[in-house]
Amino acid sequence: MEPVIRTSGLAKEYDGGVHALRGIDVEIGDGEFVAVTGPSGCGKSTLLNLLGGLDRPSRGEIELAGRRVDGFSEGRWALVRRREIGFVFQFFNLIGNLSVADNVELPGLLAGLPAKEARARRRELLASLGIEEHADAAPGRLSGGQQQRVAIARALVNRPRVLLADEPTGNLDSSSARDVMALLRAAHDERGQTIVLVTHDARVAARADRVIAMRDGAVSSETRLDDTRGDVSATVSRLMELGA
Ligand SMILES: Nc1ncnc2c1ncn2[C@@H]1O[C@H](COP(=O)(O)OP(=O)(O)O)[C@@H](O)[C@H]1O
Ligand SMILES: [Mg+2]
Repeated sequence: MEPVIRTSGLAKEYDGGVHALRGIDVEIGDGEFVAVTGPSGCGKSTLLNLLGGLDRPSRGEIELAGRRVDGFSEGRWALVRRREIGFVFQFFNLIGNLSVADNVELPGLLAGLPAKEARARRRELLASLGIEEHADAAPGRLSGGQQQRVAIARALVNRPRVLLADEPTGNLDSSSARDVMALLRAAHDERGQTIVLVTHDARVAARADRVIAMRDGAVSSETRLDDTRGDVSATVSRLMELGA
């Protein structure tokens, strides 16, 4: 499988001397669904932020779709993010004074989609995520689970190469969390969407095809789960043993 993301020796030290990442080498294949897991503070969000250009590495390389991006300027990263990367965050990060529809269409318009196309994609996404009746509402009127659906629609509107999700179920009750995972799974199964999902929850990680476990700024293990699916409890206990 052609890697869509590759890192080599990726390291990050924050001001104050925190070694958040100590040399990460990972490859993520085009169309893969990967979970990055591990205890709080092990560097998961730092890794995701570097992959999406939201922060810069101290050392090491990042390749996205075959080209080096780690040295990109903020302006070039902004273009990459607009066209090739979708983000989903724990706290949804929707724009409160725009309607649901506008939240989803805006990144499309910023990326240069004609208004008609942005509208068509928004309609299709909101329908497939089951929230079309809320198109004109303010996001704050929706439940957490519904807001996260809007955030997923927004992340997918530009058909990004990669969807980066940081604890997307971290602020949801367990039933909404299951829904959101099912939707991400469907985006992967039906559209071949590449997904990198960060979670400290082994049950959430168990929905991915591969789990990269981290500890103290380094990769501690990589486990392929697709052949063990069907026995989710065995998978979860395996992840627990791995210390995820
Ligand atoms: N902006 C920052 N400045 C200084 N230290 C940070 C910053 N962000 C994260 N850290 C530290 O880096 C380490 C990794 O954090 P993080 O990537 O957020 O871990 P995780 O997402 O796995 O909980 C932690 O020790 C955290 O306190
Ligand atoms: Mg985090």
